[in-house]
Amino acid sequence: MEDVVVGLDIGSTKTCAVIGFLNENGLVEIAGVGVAPSRGLKNGVIINIDNTQAAIAKAIEDAELMAGCEIAACYVAITGSHIKGENSPGVVAVSGRNRSISAGEIRRVIQAAQAIVIPADREIMHVLSREFAVDDQRGIKDPIGMTGVRLEAEVHIVTGSRSAIINLTKSVNASGIHCQDIVFSPLAAAEAVLSAEEMELGVAVVDIGGGTTDIAVFSDGGVAYTSVLPVGGRHVTNDISIGLSTPAESAEMIKKKHGLSLVSFVDASETVEVPSVGDRAPRRIMRMELARIIEPRMFEIMEMIERELLVSGKKDFLAAGVVLTGGGAMLEGTVECAERVFRLPVRIGRAKNITGMKDIVSSPQYANAVGLVKYGIKTRQYREAKGGTKKQSGGLKMKMKKWFQDYL
Ligand SMILES: Nc1ncnc2c1ncn2[C@@H]1O[C@H](COP(=O)(O)OP(=O)(O)OP(=O)(O)O)[C@@H](O)[C@H]1O
Ligand SMILES: [Mg+2]
Repeated sequence: MEDVVVGLDIGSTKTCAVIGFLNENGLVEIAGVGVAPSRGLKNGVIINIDNTQAAIAKAIEDAELMAGCEIAACYVAITGSHIKGENSPGVVAVSGRNRSISAGEIRRVIQAAQAIVIPADREIMHVLSREFAVDDQRGIKDPIGMTGVRLEAEVHIVTGSRSAIINLTKSVNASGIHCQDIVFSPLAAAEAVLSAEEMELGVAVVDIGGGTTDIAVFSDGGVAYTSVLPVGGRHVTNDISIGLSTPAESAEMIKKKHGLSLVSFVDASETVEVPSVGDRAPRRIMRMELARIIEPRMFEIMEMIERELLVSGKKDFLAAGVVLTGGGAMLEGTVECAERVFRLPVRIGRAKNITGMKDIVSSPQYANAVGLVKYGIKTRQYREAKGGTKKQSGGLKMKMKKWFQDYL
């Protein structure tokens, strides 16, 4: 199994490594999964390299044991409020013979669109082509071979804090593993859970993690908007811990076992056992009381997401609705809560078109790591198709990324 691809998702609450490969039937087969609790991150950003590295080493080791192979490199997901996405236009004159647009023109126009001022403490992570215009004809996906005098491109550029990226790379390298690429997490999740039709129709992927909620809006097959909110399941756990005067660990346990995002879903007779702080005996409370603590926080998170969808300018065009990933989406009633706020169809995103360990990796918590494996396989196929293996970007050397279009 020398052609394995590894996805590493270093989250605020858990670090997980997924090893996969393209099997003889052309399907992505998952060979190993390793998970370790994270202790060195806050809201998606590394605050302690040693603790982060220890979690990475454990997750990788477990995945290697399961897959029965040793790995040397991986694709890594990144999140955090330092990540910003913006749309940028570029224009060039078509100079070639017969004014016919070639791959060279596409490269030039995408370079022109990238010419934005980026502060020295930020790095470009992704340059995602959205659509092109030839003269006044807009909405063109593939202008190669078309004739015109003016070629315009609209790209979506994702940038992140240089130090956050350095610390992420350092933590991975400290485990003796080469970082092949860093991918903004909802784009990785999208790779795992969305279909090309959904991206074409208009869809938003929302990853509700422990400390962050990541959003990526797709329309007409490209990325139209990306954003990160500093909220997640951890806030729900905190509310339960304070509201029920119980330690964080039991609040977390109660949330996962009995939590509900909507009060109206609770049967009025249901009760829940709550361990108390100190020596006091555990007590029983109405499950309704628990839901009354959770519901306002979940509505608040959904309303914050709703504001981002509105800012994207694409809210009215999300015909394929919203797809939720991340552990925070696993709370019972969350889909219905989201539907009430967004007034759009909502579903839980599970990795599709994969085989092997399906029962583990189809949990929405693994969408990022599985998506990274798919992204890695796609990148390799793309390089092979282009002939020759392009030198891999070592460490920090960020480069233009080929994403949903083949021009970069
Ligand atoms: N079954 C469940 N029901 C409710 N909540 C859950 C469940 N399983 C996990 N969670 C919550 O999901 C959150 C963790 O999600 P996830 O693993 O996607 O986060 P992460 O990737 O570690 O963090 P981030 O993406 O914010 O950096 C925690 O707050 C946890 O309480
Ligand atoms: Mg996450």
